Parts: sequence; C-alpha cells; structure tokens
Amino acid sequence: MDQQSLQQLQQQLLDELSAVQSPEELEAFRLRHLVKKGTIPQLFAQLRSVPKEEKPIFGRLVNELRQVVEQRFQELKQQFEQKAAVQPTVDLTLPGRQPLAGIHHPVYATMAEMLQIFQEMGFTVVVGPEIEDDYHNFEALNFPPDHPARDMQDTFFIEPERENPILLRTHTSPVQIRVMENLRPPIRTVMPGRVYRNEAISVRSLAEFHQIEGLYVDRSVTFAEMKGMLVAFVQRFYGAETQYTFRPSFFPFTEPSAEMDITCFLCKGKGCRVCKFTGWLEILGCGMVHPNVLRACDIDPEEFSGFAFGMGVERITMLRTGITDIRMLYDNDLRVLEQFA
Ligand code: PHE
Repeated sequence: MDQQSLQQLQQQLLDELSAVQSPEELEAFRLRHLVKKGTIPQLFAQLRSVPKEEKPIFGRLVNELRQVVEQRFQELKQQFEQKAAVQPTVDLTLPGRQPLAGIHHPVYATMAEMLQIFQEMGFTVVVGPEIEDDYHNFEALNFPPDHPARDMQDTFFIEPERENPILLRTHTSPVQIRVMENLRPPIRTVMPGRVYRNEAISVRSLAEFHQIEGLYVDRSVTFAEMKGMLVAFVQRFYGAETQYTFRPSFFPFTEPSAEMDITCFLCKGKGCRVCKFTGWLEILGCGMVHPNVLRACDIDPEEFSGFAFGMGVERITMLRTGITDIRMLYDNDLRVLEQFA
C-alpha cells in the first residue's frame, strides 16, 4: 500500500459516496467500508505491517482518508435524515380512500318515513320504556288476569315474582297508558319503539322487533275518523291506488276492534308468495280506546273517546326491500344493508 494507491482509494470511496441515492445504498456503503471488517478499519490493521519509518506519514494519510470519507458519509446521512423528516410518508398522488358514510338501517328508514307522515297529520312522537311493568303492559290495557299473553311462553319477564311483575314490553300499547297518565285530551301521539316476545326465531319472526303505536283522544272522536285517517296514511305510504279492507278483530284495549288489510303491493292483489296467494296483507290493528282504558288513566269515557292503532315495522320493511328472511335485517351484514341506502 503506497501513498498513491491510498489517494486513489480515497477518491474511489468519495466517488462511491457521490453515487449514493438512498439511505439503503448509504447503509450498504457503511457495511462495505466503515464497519470493523470494512475497508477503512482494515487499513489501520495493515498499518502494523508498514515499515517503522513510513508509519507516521502512512498513519497520517490513513487518518486523513478516514476523516474525509467519514465526514462525507455523515453529511449524506444527515441529508437523508432531514429529507425523511420533511418528506410526507403518504403518497399524495394516490386517489383518496372513500370513507364509509353511515346509512339509515332499512327498518329505521321505514319507521322514519311512517312517522313523518303522521307528524304531518298533527301527531307528535313520544317514546316510552322498553322495560315495563305488568300494570302498563297488560292490566291498564284491560287484559284479564288470566289472559294467555301474560304467559311465560309469550312474555319475557324480568322480575316475575313481584306483585306488579317487571317485563319487556310485548307491544307499544303501554306507551298509550303512559301518555294518558301524563297528558289530558286532546291527545295525538305516535309511539315508535322496540317490543319483545318470547318467540322462536325463524325466517318470519324475531323475539325483538319494532312497532309504531298511534293514539288520538278528544271529544267525540269516531270510528269513521279513525278509518279516514288510516286510509289517508295507507294511500300516502303505500300509494294512492292501494285498496284496503277493515276486518273485525279483537284486542282487550279497544272496542270495537279491527285489523286493516291492504292489497299486496307486490302483486297488486293478484296473489303471490308474499301475500300467500290471498292478494291481501294484514298491516295493522286498531280500534276505539276501551272505556276501561280511559278510566284507568282518569279520563272520563262519557266525555272523551279515542282511537288507537299499532303496526309492525319489520314485516313492511321486508316487503319493501324484498328481504325474505327477517333475520337478515339484524345480521349487520353491510353487503345486505348497503343495498337500501
Ligand atoms: N298492540 C297490538 C298488537 O301488538 C296492536 C294494536 C294497537 C291494536 C293499538 C289496536 C290498537 O298487536
């Protein structure tokens, strides 16, 4: 190793550094030349075999070489570090990611649309508790003590042993009672919410679903007004051409009671799988508020009368969306739900 080849080596190392383009290449340089077994430390090892008189000059040159190369190396290293610090780690030229925007659940959307129509008719929206007591869910609604709906088979009881058992409401009708306990006529409310029934879960039924209840109490409210109001609702919600029929029915808390059917909006009454080839769909229960119910809420049935109605939301949602398995509504599978945004 002579002076000239040392100078050549120094130039070669500086050239190599000049060609470095990336931190990775710089690291490769370090591993080739600067680590213990690398080129430069090896030069110091060679110093030992240099003749004594040449040692000072050779040592000085090797030191110089190391200093020059290391300084350049450090400069480059800093440059890369600074660049990394200021350079954003995101590629701003990439197309943006579409954020997942929330959508209304189809059951919620159906409910909101129904409530909107009732609100335009002058009803206010009221909500009541899902955890109820026997008094509001049954007794004040004129259910006799031995009514089968009170059975464990139908109702989820939370505290069945109490004198006034605590339970999950089986319908939204107890909200009627809560409204009439707190407001004096004229009363015009719609009451949406979840209800619970001890049912086997299947393609057609869930143990937890939604209803919208309606209540109108005033002086001389008539059955004809109830019909007119419900027909107006049905024609707005299902379409002006919708045919309907009222069938006599029974509920303990209304008298007289009826159920309303409409022509199947899928087959327009011709008969299909959805309407079980009858051409009709049952959509709600209704009737004139039973005098016993008014009395339980301290409203005089001689002075006031009213009507009430209740409708399920899930089944209507299934019909509108074409979802044929009710459980799909609550699988939380976005591939299903997103279709109805
Ligand atoms: N609560 C009844 C049900 O769950 C529906 C209904 C409400 C009927 C109001 C008449 C009046 O089926």
